[in-house]
This record gives sequence, C-alpha cells and structure tokens, in this order.
Amino acid sequence: MKILVTGGAGFIGSNFIHYLLENHPTDQVINFDALTYAGNLASLADIQNDSRYHFVQGNISDPQAVAQVISTYQIDSVVNFAAESHVDRSILHPDAFVRSNFVGVSTLLDVVKQQRVNKFVQISTDEVYGSSRGHEQFNESAHLNPSSPYSATKAGADLLALSYYKTYGINVSITRSANNYGPFQFPEKLIPLMVTNGLRGKSLPVYGDGKNVRDWLHVFDNCRAIDAILRHGRPGGIYNIAAHNYEENIQIVAKIVKQLELPQSMIDYVSDRPANDQRYSIDDALIRNELGWQPTIDFDQGISQTVDWYVTHEKWWRPLLGAVHNR
Ligand SMILES: NC(=O)c1ccc[n+]([C@@H]2O[C@H](COP(=O)([O-])OP(=O)(O)OC[C@H]3O[C@@H](n4cnc5c(N)ncnc54)[C@H](O)[C@@H]3O)[C@@H](O)[C@H]2O)c1
Repeated sequence: MKILVTGGAGFIGSNFIHYLLENHPTDQVINFDALTYAGNLASLADIQNDSRYHFVQGNISDPQAVAQVISTYQIDSVVNFAAESHVDRSILHPDAFVRSNFVGVSTLLDVVKQQRVNKFVQISTDEVYGSSRGHEQFNESAHLNPSSPYSATKAGADLLALSYYKTYGINVSITRSANNYGPFQFPEKLIPLMVTNGLRGKSLPVYGDGKNVRDWLHVFDNCRAIDAILRHGRPGGIYNIAAHNYEENIQIVAKIVKQLELPQSMIDYVSDRPANDQRYSIDDALIRNELGWQPTIDFDQGISQTVDWYVTHEKWWRPLLGAVHNR
C-alpha cells in the first residue's frame, strides 16, 4: 500500500508510522504534516533514512499541496491524524480548530474523491459523544453531543466524511478512540505534563476536583486498531476504540507522584476548564466483534513504562517546553 499519513509528526501519527514500517514491510508511507507547535520530526529521527518513508511539509487545508502529494506518490490510502488537538487551546482559538479539523478534512475529502483514492480513514475521538452519565456507554450510533470547539470540529468532520461515503461512495471509515497515552506525546497533555513538571520540581496542576474520568488506551493498541480499520474496516463504518481503563485524573497524577517519589504537596488544584466533560465512556463491541481487535497492554504496566519513557527521553521533550500551553 502507498499510505498518506497526515499529521504524522504528532503523537499518534508518529507512533502509527513506526507501527506501519515495523509490521508491513512492503508499505510506502508518506508523512504530510504542517509542523505546527505539535509536530516534531525528532519523533521520527530513527526512520528518516528508511527508503519506504518520505516526509512532505504541507497543510491539509491547502488543496494544491494535498493534490500534489497524492498524485506524486500515487497514494492509495489516506489516514488523517492532522488536527489541532488540545481542548484548552480550542477554547482560546476556535478558528484554528475550524480550519484544520473541519476545512482541512473537507479539502482532503475533495482530493480523495477527485483522485479516486481507495480508502480514507478519519481519526476522530470519543469526545464527540460528550460526557456520559453513571455507567452509560455510547455506541457508534449514539447522539453526538460535543462540548468544546475541539470536539465540535471533530464531530463536524465525522459527519462530512460520512456524507462523502453516502453521496459519492467514497470508502471512508472513522475511528473514535479513548484518551491515548504512550511515548512522543506533546508535554502539555496530562501524563507528559505531570511527568515533565514533576522532574523539574514544578507544581502539578490538576483541573477542578480532579475527579473527571477518562478511559486510557495505550497508543500502540490504538495503532493496531487503526491499522485493522485501514485494511478491513467497512466502507461508511464508524469504530469506537476503548480500553475500559477508567481513571480519575487525580488517580493518574497519584500514580505518577508515587512512581517519581514526589511529595503530595506538589499537586496544585487549579480552576476547571469551561464545559469540562465529567466522564468519557464508549462501547467498543463493534470493533471487537467485526475486526477481532482487543487491547493488549495492561494499564498499570503501560503507564509505568510511559512514565519511564519520559524520564529517559528528556532530550526529546526539553526543547518542546517553550511551546507548552500553561494551565
Ligand atoms: N491524543 C489523544 O488522546 C486522542 C484521542 C482520540 C483522538 N485523537 C485524534 O487523533 C489525532 C492525532 O492526535 P494527536 O494527539 O497525535 O495530536 P497532536 O497534536 O500530537 O498532533 C497533531 C499533528 O497534526 C499536525 N497538524 C495540525 N494541523 C495540521 C494541518 N492543518 N495540516 C497538516 N498537519 C497538521 C501537527 O503538526 C501535528 O504533527 C487527532 O485528530 C485527534 O483529534 C487523539
């Protein structure tokens, strides 16, 4: 396959490129990324000379650049990770989210249609369903109820992508995963923020009462799911990807404090973000039954290895700190 990975210099995209090259030796991978503050080619330094991998700098909302990369490399599949991904930033600058997360997807879909690309996978999020109550779990046909400009632009892109399947017969599949954790995540997201602050003796800012619940999925398991959807996903199919590791934010912070042997006094409760969803919870029976996927990484082991990864990769995260959005 000749796969265009958009947003491949970000957290999940760079993990996915590594996954593809390790598991599909005959695939060609073209990484198309605008290199925003979140894009980092250092995450791909080990494969930069691999003849199966190419990097092209460009923006998914630029129709000419998208058309050119798809025709030059005779792309047969597109997996779109490119997005503005930080909810706090979306509250301050929603327009950037509309441009990348919605207009960008519209541009990609148009070129995919014009150039008859075989497959388009849109990487979406469980946040499109909004907050769940009690033990409620949303399946793929649940009502979309996004709370932030980030999740609203992702929900809009999902609907647009599905319309290209229904109207033009484009082979679109959508993934909606839980919160990812693992190596190469920009150090403003919860786990790397807490580890990198902790290592530098800085306070650990926790929103509100710290009791918001997220489901934590290791990025490697998400990459396995996305790969299965890329190769075997149903046209028009939406797939939730869960791990069912439900943790309050403060429980995650407590694990990090324990592993790094930090004093509890470093935890600093700060005002909550507006419209912060209480709990995300999705039903992933569909991908388990249809594609035989299930997560493989035990959460306690996964988080402990992830904390160690940031401890041993200061050279990777230290240069990024200037661009971190402060809570
Ligand atoms: N991180 C999570 O926990 C999570 C969970 C569910 C879904 N997602 C989705 O997965 C995708 C990837 O998330 P991530 O955490 O890796 O994000 P990230 O912020 O780490 O990376 C995003 C990448 O996209 C690039 N980019 C941004 N706008 C672009 C544009 N207009 N054109 C080209 N490139 C652009 C950036 O340079 C960066 O390399 C996003 O679509 C996000 O909505 C993330």
